Amino acid sequence: QMDAFITELMAKMTLEEKVGQMTLFSSDWDVTGPSLRGDYQEKIKEGKVGAVFNAFTAKYTKQLQKIAVEETRLGIPLLFGYDVIHGHRTIFPISLGESASWDLDAIKLAAEVAAAEAAAEGIHWTFAPMVDVARDPRWGRISEGSGEDVYLTTAIARARVQGFQGDDLSQPHTILATAKHFAAYGQGQAGRDYHTTDMSDRELRDTYLPPFKAAVDAGVTSFMTSFNELNGVPASANKYLLTDILRDEWSFEGFVVTDYTSINEMVKHGFARDNDHAGELAVKAGVDMDMQGSVYFDYLANQVTQGKVSPQQIDNAARRILEMKYRLGLFEDPYRYSNEEREAQEIYKEYNLQAAQDVARKSMVLLKNENQQLPLSKSDLTIAVIGPLADSKEDLIGSWSAAGDRYEKPITLLTGIKAKVADPSKVLYAKGASYEFSHQDNSGFEAAIAIAKKADVIVLAMGEKWDMTGEATSRTSLDFPGNQLALMQQLKKLAKPMVLVLMNGRPMTIEWADQNVDAILEAWYPGTMGGPAIADVLFGDYNPSGKLPVTFPRNVGQIPLYYNMKNTGRPYSKDNAEQKYVSRYIDSLNTPLYHFGHGLSYTTFDYSKISLNKAVITAKEKLTASIDVTNSGNYDGEEVVQLYIRDRIGSVTRPVKQLKGFKKIFLHKGETKTVSFSISTEDLAFHRQDMSFGAEAGEFDLFIGTSSDKVQSSEFTLSGSVD
Ligand code: IFM
Repeated sequence: QMDAFITELMAKMTLEEKVGQMTLFSSDWDVTGPSLRGDYQEKIKEGKVGAVFNAFTAKYTKQLQKIAVEETRLGIPLLFGYDVIHGHRTIFPISLGESASWDLDAIKLAAEVAAAEAAAEGIHWTFAPMVDVARDPRWGRISEGSGEDVYLTTAIARARVQGFQGDDLSQPHTILATAKHFAAYGQGQAGRDYHTTDMSDRELRDTYLPPFKAAVDAGVTSFMTSFNELNGVPASANKYLLTDILRDEWSFEGFVVTDYTSINEMVKHGFARDNDHAGELAVKAGVDMDMQGSVYFDYLANQVTQGKVSPQQIDNAARRILEMKYRLGLFEDPYRYSNEEREAQEIYKEYNLQAAQDVARKSMVLLKNENQQLPLSKSDLTIAVIGPLADSKEDLIGSWSAAGDRYEKPITLLTGIKAKVADPSKVLYAKGASYEFSHQDNSGFEAAIAIAKKADVIVLAMGEKWDMTGEATSRTSLDFPGNQLALMQQLKKLAKPMVLVLMNGRPMTIEWADQNVDAILEAWYPGTMGGPAIADVLFGDYNPSGKLPVTFPRNVGQIPLYYNMKNTGRPYSKDNAEQKYVSRYIDSLNTPLYHFGHGLSYTTFDYSKISLNKAVITAKEKLTASIDVTNSGNYDGEEVVQLYIRDRIGSVTRPVKQLKGFKKIFLHKGETKTVSFSISTEDLAFHRQDMSFGAEAGEFDLFIGTSSDKVQSSEFTLSGSVD
């Protein structure tokens, strides 16, 4: 039915109208560079624009939709896109924070709530999830992804696609999702945004592509190209990525949009002579829709007329886009998403706010808790709350929360703490320091020290200003910006218990804090309900359960530093610590400050030995690895049980550890649960020396534990022939 409808419609369309479907314009604001068109509404009327982004609210989208439906020749409805990244109006933790929950149900729920709010405001399509594996915390966009690991990023990619799209796109609370940025954007040289990426095909396929493939398998409906070049070819004209892999190998049937003006940027890349040439390269490589560049708009029809681009290519692209409009039900009712009544009920509704608070609590990672400094008592303490992030609303929201209110709605940490304690007058506050890079003035220290002297415990809220993370925010230092560290050092002299709440969008280098404060809670940018969520954790109403999805280095010189590195021929170990010619630094340890998977709880978990159902498996068999986990402490709590493997010898060298499974379980105090993992040959597969994909027979280590560095170990053998 859909095919027949679109075939009939396309038979009536002119070449210009088809190219119009391939054109996406921003409605009202320049996103990441000046390119706004004042005449876009005129162009909609002429049938030359098929999709608009950045317009939202039921009223506004209805108004624009009316132009397309009532004033164009064929009345084809517009597709409205938007960056609905970690919430739409109700903001959830930044994506890296959500990922730290390792809770796929919670992550899916966050996407569902975001989709429902966005859909009620007329939005059909989100530019999320970002599924770029990122191993360089200098890169500001590490905050938008799921961290450094391919397995975790892949699982989260699936959960987010399902959350946004649901099972049925014609339901009015679901929206199209976009897997972005295709591909290898997270690996730009030196952590500088938009920078060159150069890597082996094996590395690309083993580490960077699997989350995209998982998104396709989960039914994602669109892909966005990345800004970077990959091995000399900009992603927006990379036929290898966009056609050979995406279409031919993975059979992706949705449409491909570029990132913002990235077709035009191929001129500066030195890949295209001019925009005309760039457009031709992009369309031939497999780009269906041009975001904001006006290149298809300006040149594509002409290129077809001149015989440079085949009409079939245009038909294919236009059809893919029209199919999505059809699947959303827009041909049936173009206004079904722009529903003011639903909008009024959906936005910031209690359920959404509660969900945001719950996901925020789950995303927090307790990095350190010396002498059980946390949780704090609600009744008898005087608490000094200090730091530039303690009473800031806007920072809680983090980057890429385009429609989320940052000035009224968010509830700050200070408010959250006051609401928790028996006597709010015993909660004292001073901003004390600044997180601005250039800040030199320490005059705020005095007030902070004065309240700290009166307090039983100091709660510091420090980290990065929200707009120091996200797009175009690469850093060369990951230290506390401004004079925050200097203030901490002054406060340390008071010898009072100090609790540091970190708000930031990336791993930071916090060695001094690690050595000098009593407890550290990584809260990321926790969203609209961030303050109450942090307070829930600080006062023990929620027992922290998050685990780091990314390694925290000790210093910038160690970067890139991630848990599943290769061993090298001269690995450093305690046994050869006296030798010079081993792979290490002469001025720093090799090890990180906090390992991937690290995260403490107020309770303790004991792990038994691992038991395997067999010591040897063949290619067709599955291995079951089980372990008993006991809550041996004084609180009920959740634990993320992590499974890693190491393939000891490979036709290409294998990483020292690879995450291959995890389960988040709840245990009452004193309770024991058996956790089992099933491992099949596919879990052991990689691109072998001849680039075939599969496992190799041999011996494997298997590890299960609470973090990548704290594991029980066992071993097994894969024997016989493997395809
Ligand atoms: O979705 C974003 C992308 O991640 C970065 N450039 C702009 C796009 C649209 O706003």
